[in-house]
Amino acid sequence: MQLLKDKVIQEGIVLSEQVLKVDSFLNHQMDPVLMKEVGKEFIRRFEGENITRVLTIESSGIAPGIMTALELNVPLIFARKQKSLTLTEDILVEKVYSFTKQETNEITVAKKFMNPGDRVLIIDDFLANGEAAFGLARIVEQVGAEVVGIGIVIEKAFQPGGSLLKEAGYRVESLVRIGALSNGQVTFADEEGT
Ligand code: G4P
Ligand code: NA
Ligand code: NA
Repeated sequence: MQLLKDKVIQEGIVLSEQVLKVDSFLNHQMDPVLMKEVGKEFIRRFEGENITRVLTIESSGIAPGIMTALELNVPLIFARKQKSLTLTEDILVEKVYSFTKQETNEITVAKKFMNPGDRVLIIDDFLANGEAAFGLARIVEQVGAEVVGIGIVIEKAFQPGGSLLKEAGYRVESLVRIGALSNGQVTFADEEGT
């Protein structure tokens, strides 16, 4: 997605060989016009899939998630990382380990918001090791619903998440794929060696 590549080049800050900071449009300040285009691009890629719900995880997945759900006219559910005090009903829980943060979080979704037979599109802002996406997929599968695919705004293709998810049989659509973050520069995966 060229618009997103341009934004990454213009505003992304390479913090290390592993981490790209994009807090001016995705992770802190959010760009609603760009997020609207992100939503449109996801529904273009998953056209004809009869998606009934979009699932993401708080907090940075919510902006691309809501724009995708708006275009599809279906609900967005965001998995919570902390147990809510008011979330007293039956909940679906999965453990998600973060290599980046070296901690395990429990993510939760209320059972009443996901049904067997739902066709769920998972959306997230970043894909690194794939742990969050796998956790979200397990939540969908716990209730007997189907994961239609996984839509990612920025995939770090030099980390294993994308390959692992595809090996597990999931369709992954990443709007930009980063091949490397070397020498303070972003290289896109489809431009390596060119
Ligand atoms: P994984 O799910 O793919 O295994 O990723 P990981 O545990 O490594 O990611 C932990 C958090 O760090 C996630 O945000 C993820 O979006 C974010 N993250 C991973 N790599 C990068 C990166 O290169 N740049 C940026 N900006 N973020 C990255 P989170 O803790 O869930 O926070 P939130 O922003 O959604 O609230
Ligand atoms: Na994030
Ligand atoms: Na996220």
